[in-house]
Amino acid sequence: MVQLTSMVDYEVEDGVAVLTLDNPPVNALSQGVRQGLKEGVARALADDTARAIVIHCKGGTFIAGADITEFSSGLVEPGLHEVLDAMDNSAKPIVAAIHGTALGGGLETALSCHFRVAVASARLGLPEVNLGLLPGAGGTQRLPRVVGVEKALQMMTSGVPIGAAEALDTGLVDRIVEGDLREGAIAFAHEKIDQGGKLTRIRDRDDKLQEARDHPELFDRFRQSIARKTRGFLAPEYNIRCIEAAVTQPFDEGMKTESKLFMELMSGPQAAAQQYFFFAERQAGKVPDVPRDTAEIPIAKVGVIGSGTMGGGIAMNMVNVGIPVTIVEVKQEALERGLGVIRKNYENTARKGRISDADVTGRMDLITGSLDLTDLADCDLIIEAVFEDMAVKKDIFTRLDAIAKPGAILASNTSALDINEIAGVTGRPESVIGLHFFSPANVMKLLEVVRGDKTSKEVIKTCMSFAKRIRKVAVLVGVCHGFVGNRMLFVRQFQAEQLALEGAPPHRIDKVLYDFGFPMGAFQMSDLAGLDIGWNAKTSKGANVRERLCEMDRRGQKTGAGFYDYDENRTPSPAPIVQELYAEFAAKAGITQREISDEEILERCILPMINEGARILEEGIAIRASDIDVVYVYGYGWPVYRGGPMHYANSLGLDKVVEKLRAYQRSSGSDFWQPCKYLVDLAGKGGRFG
Ligand code: 3HC
Repeated sequence: MVQLTSMVDYEVEDGVAVLTLDNPPVNALSQGVRQGLKEGVARALADDTARAIVIHCKGGTFIAGADITEFSSGLVEPGLHEVLDAMDNSAKPIVAAIHGTALGGGLETALSCHFRVAVASARLGLPEVNLGLLPGAGGTQRLPRVVGVEKALQMMTSGVPIGAAEALDTGLVDRIVEGDLREGAIAFAHEKIDQGGKLTRIRDRDDKLQEARDHPELFDRFRQSIARKTRGFLAPEYNIRCIEAAVTQPFDEGMKTESKLFMELMSGPQAAAQQYFFFAERQAGKVPDVPRDTAEIPIAKVGVIGSGTMGGGIAMNMVNVGIPVTIVEVKQEALERGLGVIRKNYENTARKGRISDADVTGRMDLITGSLDLTDLADCDLIIEAVFEDMAVKKDIFTRLDAIAKPGAILASNTSALDINEIAGVTGRPESVIGLHFFSPANVMKLLEVVRGDKTSKEVIKTCMSFAKRIRKVAVLVGVCHGFVGNRMLFVRQFQAEQLALEGAPPHRIDKVLYDFGFPMGAFQMSDLAGLDIGWNAKTSKGANVRERLCEMDRRGQKTGAGFYDYDENRTPSPAPIVQELYAEFAAKAGITQREISDEEILERCILPMINEGARILEEGIAIRASDIDVVYVYGYGWPVYRGGPMHYANSLGLDKVVEKLRAYQRSSGSDFWQPCKYLVDLAGKGGRFG
């Protein structure tokens, strides 16, 4: 065996040169891998004892892509194109032996081999779109030549990898290897040597492009089909244009188009934001004062208190991954309603073909309904999801303290209340934590994990790992009103309300936020959540527009009207009554309504969030600025191509942010706009968040 670089070994076994890559954790195409591949192929071509080449990886996976950490530091020779060209032009057959994931540049490497074999559990894909990019090493030209245009469009614009079985069906892999992959790949290479004949490079194939040449309209049809999902993103469209180039241009021209578009994306703000976010998401799981080897509490059974929208959604997360759940309600009727909603959700998913009927039954079988809190005695984790009332929560936690087994984690799904106060009613505050799910809880990826003053490290570690198990992204935050997400939302909602009073119609405010990239604006969000959260008909004094709307039974989408009017299909239209109410309240408050620009609307909604985020960092409520961004992208639909509020602030320039906050402070005369000290100091030093 010869070590070519610190990451690649060369060994001839049974007449086949095996290049073994070893670059943990994911065998990314770092410089040492590229150099080793280049040297390895050259060596094998010159080596009379080698008649074919196998590329195989150590560790848990084949190559998972280019080394993203190198994107910002600039590329060191050899470039990936040079390496892949050498492979493509090899006179000896090259076989990629794939296990784990072959992603991005990894799949492009495999596509530059003459053959691909894989284990049954392998997954193959081009996820560059998730990094704001397109495959820049020939993937856009080679993939459609192998799997066809429609499949390539799907894979590249969604970034979702396909499994080995589908890869075999589409021709992306040539064989699924049972047993040892390395041996299987060597045996496959021998078969190809024995068969002889000319080696076909993927670049020379174009039979699978013909259909798109005959029906070029399929591209626009596809564009329309993904328009809603990809609104605001540049990369999906750029990926499509590259596939169009594969269809309309010769291979080498197509490669030039790919390189040009790749560079355009790479130098733009979206790719920077999305790559930043890739690492932000992974950072969020790391808690400096909770070491990796902290013991975890095994979670085999979960209890959920409350079967409303939140409780039901939370329970679904558990059963989706096979964890049994007991749901406790106060009344039989409410319990039945809650369980009915869960079943209906699953039946709808089955109708769309995403799960089987057996899955519906299997998941429902994992749920036990109960009216008795003592049925939670054997649960390892109990999540309270009743309405936001401190007295009710304290009562539940007092009772849980007497019921739950020692060591069980007692969690509250509160979205704003003080976890320390809740923990204080128990004799085991170290076991109490906040697990703030976002609605709909079975869909939204974020889990805000709220650590109380006394929450133990084991409990924190367990909850952070558990989040992964139920396929959530966890962000650890500290106790304050509204934690990170809602605390920052409050200031945005407050400004949206002020803007409406000053004369900006709610639907215009919403449109500005929607155009910025949010899935919906502030008023649409209120209508969806319900205007009556925290409202009480008996004590209502009609003190503001929201209360007046509730009194008129305009309580949001559920009552067919709120800040908007809704037709029978829930299509919203601006409601004249709402603007009249704002005019009435403005007059009462002595505010003269005026024309307000989109720019002002956006700044007044976003800048206070940045300022509040800075305060959150100042107070140590969030560990790092990027955690705040993860909260916003996964919990509130902040467009990932803008990175999150703190990344966005960096891209604006913190000095500019401070300047604008001060300008609004001057013009409004309100301390609401006072930039916080942390932000001012950071901006003064020319610094950035993170
Ligand atoms: N480059 C550098 N580091 C990478 C990396 C990459 N391509 N992919 C993963 N890592 C790092 C992660 O940052 C993480 O580091 P950490 O432990 O210090 O936080 C570590 O590898 C493990 O990653 P995950 O925590 O994500 O591990 P999982 O097992 O959950 O997932 C994975 C593994 C599916 C490979 C996932 O990491 C992933 O999706 N990686 C990115 C794949 C990708 O986007 N590839 C395309 C890259 S762009 C490209 O190839 C351009 C080309 O066209 C020219």
